[in-house]
Amino acid sequence: MNDFGGQFPAPKHFILHVSDTHFVENDALLHESVDSDANLAQMFDDFARSGARPEAIIFTGDLADAGQPEAYQRLRELVEPAAAAVGAEVIWVMGNHDERGAFRAGLLDQEPTVESIDRVFDINGLRIIALDSTVPGQHYGEITDEQLEWLAAELATPSPDGTLIALHHPPVPSPLGLLALVELRDQHKLAAVIEGTDVRAVLGGHLHYSTLSTFAGVPVSVASATCYTQDLNVEYPAARGQNGGQSFNLVHLYDDRVLHSIVPIGQFPTVYEMTAEMLESFMAKSAAEQLALVNASVDN
Ligand SMILES: [Fe+2]
Ligand SMILES: [Fe+2]
Repeated sequence: MNDFGGQFPAPKHFILHVSDTHFVENDALLHESVDSDANLAQMFDDFARSGARPEAIIFTGDLADAGQPEAYQRLRELVEPAAAAVGAEVIWVMGNHDERGAFRAGLLDQEPTVESIDRVFDINGLRIIALDSTVPGQHYGEITDEQLEWLAAELATPSPDGTLIALHHPPVPSPLGLLALVELRDQHKLAAVIEGTDVRAVLGGHLHYSTLSTFAGVPVSVASATCYTQDLNVEYPAARGQNGGQSFNLVHLYDDRVLHSIVPIGQFPTVYEMTAEMLESFMAKSAAEQLALVNASVDN
């Protein structure tokens, strides 16, 4: 039960899911109009107001727009202090706009080798697998047979609180027809590996809009981009990137479910507000008194 008598316990894990930062070289504007750095900085400023402390921040790929070392450097300089301030581990995932060598050198302090970047994290009993779905020189995605074997071996041992798989190319269909050109190929092979394991959710990016589906019986959540988003109101088969509607996701894990909440970036006019200070005296009242006050004041 929480402070307000709800039916749910506090979540066991809390993760931030961020995607497609698309940092460009020398702090230039992406597509000559989008300030990728400013958008991500705004996201961290917005989130800081919550005072919440995520255990990890997962970035599901397309971190740099063209794999530029200087872009990774700036991204890291922005993200690492912000993550440290809330006590979160940073989990970087490769995207089709990233370069494995520069990604390794710039974000992981590793030699700039070009094999796939697949990593496993233990976040207080929750396993997070960062899976590299990229194909060098291509924008579509693929998980190689070698990676699938590695994944199957990893998943053979369950984790105490289950597993999240984070990959850039989400295994979901899209209403934007053009995205079929850059989708994850041979998805049935990945489905066969995930089915029947302790994977509780698949987190993806790449689409530049938020979407929710299932894959191999597992919920899939795609975080939109922090840089720019896809307009889903275009007439088929058109596509249009727009500088608005950017967001990130809160991921709360309970014993029996995973909750994905989409948070727009930016601040908007206040309609009404109940500050934490105002609620202090409210929370001191009995449940019956609280309910009576709510019934007297809520008009929707
Ligand atoms: Fe992207
Ligand atoms: Fe992408």
